[in-house]
Amino acid sequence: MPDGTDSPDLTDWTWEYEGYDPAQERLRESLCTLGNGYFATRGAAPECAADSVHYPGTYAAGCYNRLTSDLAGRKVENEDMVNLPNWLPLRFRTGPGEWLSPDTHKVLDHRQSLDLRSGTLTRTLRYEDDSGRVLAVRQLRLLHMADPHLALLRTEFTAEGWSGGLEVEAAIDGTVTNSGVDRYRQLASRHLTHAHTGASDDSVTVWLRCRTTTSDIRVGLAARTTTDAPTTISVAHDDGRAVQRLRLSLTDGRTVTVDKTVALHTSRDAAISDPLHAAVDRVRRAPDATALLASHRTAWQQLWRNAELDVPNRAGPVLRLHLFHVLQTLSPHTADLDVGVPARGLHGEAYRGHVFWDELFVLPYLNLHFPEVSRALLTYRHRRLEQACFAARDAGHSGAMYPWQSGSDGREETQELHLNPRSGRWLPDHSRLQHHVGSAIAYNVWQYCEASGDSEFLHTKGAEMLAQIARFWAGLATYDEGLGRYRIRGVVGPDEYHEAYPGSSRPGLDDNAYTNVTAAWVLARALDVVRGLPEPRRRDLGERIGLAPGELDAWEDVSRKLHVPFHSGVISQFEGYGELAELDWAAYRARYGDIRRLDRILEAENDSVNHYQASKQADVLMLGYLFAPAELQGLFKQLGYVIDDATWQRTVDHYLSRTSHGSTLSSLVHGWILARARRTDAWTYVQEALAGDIADVQGGTTGEGIHLGAMAGTLDLVQRGLTGLETRDGTLRLDPVPLPELSEYGFAIRYRGHWGVQLRLSAGKLRITVPESDRDPIDIALADRTVPVGPGESCTLLLTDRETAWTD
Ligand code: BGC
Repeated sequence: MPDGTDSPDLTDWTWEYEGYDPAQERLRESLCTLGNGYFATRGAAPECAADSVHYPGTYAAGCYNRLTSDLAGRKVENEDMVNLPNWLPLRFRTGPGEWLSPDTHKVLDHRQSLDLRSGTLTRTLRYEDDSGRVLAVRQLRLLHMADPHLALLRTEFTAEGWSGGLEVEAAIDGTVTNSGVDRYRQLASRHLTHAHTGASDDSVTVWLRCRTTTSDIRVGLAARTTTDAPTTISVAHDDGRAVQRLRLSLTDGRTVTVDKTVALHTSRDAAISDPLHAAVDRVRRAPDATALLASHRTAWQQLWRNAELDVPNRAGPVLRLHLFHVLQTLSPHTADLDVGVPARGLHGEAYRGHVFWDELFVLPYLNLHFPEVSRALLTYRHRRLEQACFAARDAGHSGAMYPWQSGSDGREETQELHLNPRSGRWLPDHSRLQHHVGSAIAYNVWQYCEASGDSEFLHTKGAEMLAQIARFWAGLATYDEGLGRYRIRGVVGPDEYHEAYPGSSRPGLDDNAYTNVTAAWVLARALDVVRGLPEPRRRDLGERIGLAPGELDAWEDVSRKLHVPFHSGVISQFEGYGELAELDWAAYRARYGDIRRLDRILEAENDSVNHYQASKQADVLMLGYLFAPAELQGLFKQLGYVIDDATWQRTVDHYLSRTSHGSTLSSLVHGWILARARRTDAWTYVQEALAGDIADVQGGTTGEGIHLGAMAGTLDLVQRGLTGLETRDGTLRLDPVPLPELSEYGFAIRYRGHWGVQLRLSAGKLRITVPESDRDPIDIALADRTVPVGPGESCTLLLTDRETAWTD
């Protein structure tokens, strides 16, 4: 593993940062974010307000608000995941002077430690005040994993070598804005309004309520602050901030503890009367910090048992950190919410908390551990199916056109203009033409149902989504008499760099291979589902979505005749790709060093990446990520093409040398594909995927939020990529490719009602253990045999040479 630029100290279960480094603070805050699937708070220092160093963000899943900004002479509307009132503030001083802060006072030592096992962040530091007196501070925080509305900040103060007074100010700050991303600075950012503050219980509890400006989500927070020493406590609210002042007296060497317990509710919550009452009531009833910590730890232990992953070497702890952040964003609590997969977690404001196709990299992992969470995330999409159908109709199409970026109600949230920070120009953004997002949703529906056996979902919501997405593709495809094939024109593929043909004023490209092949797959699966539905249900569905006579035949025809372009013996990313200019990669690398955002570099040079055979991330190669070789060959055969191993290898080589990896998803997909192809360079890409956030590989982006797709994708790389695990036709298929650097690992999955099925790979052996239950045996299929393993049984399979072979 390459070391992170920030070189944290990583052990099996802890993630530690030694020293205070303002330049790294944003990154650390993201990576030390705590969350419970309902809400999350960045790992910011409680005594610091938002400024150029610190950014204390708190976000509740699915809590969005829309604002209009004046930009480059236009009115631009954006919907953002709202930065909620900051519940962290807790500052202190030893005299009447300035509050102690790492930016204004001497910090003798500073250590931050994220404990993954128990979901807590501990910070220990020692301040020297203006008179040279030393104050030791230890802070522990949690966002409760059992009661997702609660959070705790415990602060222990110890005077070292002196005795005297300490003033502490604890607050809830409702004056916050969304200002965590520099590129969005020119946009409107004040999402909260009507902040009111108050106190109860003799000032022990303070509260703040406010609401979002347009989505009218009401927010209530309450904080109960207690100490274990005699204290005078008073309230001193100021505009938009609920404030408590505590006066403590410290005795040399004796520790005084201040516990701030916080409750958060919004009007989106179920089973409440109003958010403020719910928050005040919850915080009043909350047990003390010790009990809260104990129940929080138990909840995390349960999570870890369900998500067991044992990978040795340095990769193991990194994968565990990734898993930790995935679980903090999408926990079992998510199963009760109406939310999608936010691309940057609940960890920051980049991409405004929007939901992209990234769930394609997340759900396959969740399906085999927390299927109820996958189901909820798919239900988020189903609730917005009507909106996707409206979008298709408004654009003159049929079926469901899901948005490239989705937020509250499922309308298209992609920005119309984006800023190139290199040139300072605001440019039109055509990424909304990435209609392939619909196929990602369909793929996830299918995968979820295969892994969970949830035929109820497949036959109802799943079938409706599959049918409407298939219908969209069938309608979008136009028949080209000359080619004798269907074409899908005017789209953008996953690569994202290419938005138009050189010199063309019409955005979009024709016959994007990834779009067309996945569309063919969706059409085929939709046909399988619709034709396989129990008759009464098929009739219901037909009536509900108005299936026309002959429509299924039309889908079938398109599914067999979509055009896939080729050039020089490789699959073309889109029609005409082979005619684009070759970029002088070496010259650009020499000139710029980091060329991940080649699009921005070229635009700033008044050139355009549209002119070149240059991709941001895997596009054609995504096909090898989604489909095992046999399935991919079958898919091409369905379309009337032969794609043999040699063609695929040539295609891999072609794009590998023409990709700048400007997305964290890129190294993940390439690592996966190369590992499946048993290529020695696989590890380089896997390493980069593992380093993505911890080393902030994309240069400054992690501080604006983690990359959830890449994090979950690395977990799935072990779970499905290296094992070749497929859940197809009610069988658990395995086709392992042991990556030499990562050849021993084990994990447990939940599969079709079996909990904790253990798989362990080591030294050419695969061991499977199925825990006791009343379920049927699981059929385990390797390339050359199928073995049933019943509940309470274990089985060790020796892998054949083919399964262990490794070539250059
Ligand atoms: C990637 C997209 C991704 C988005 C959100 C972009 O940089 O190119 O594929 O969906 O980030 O993570």
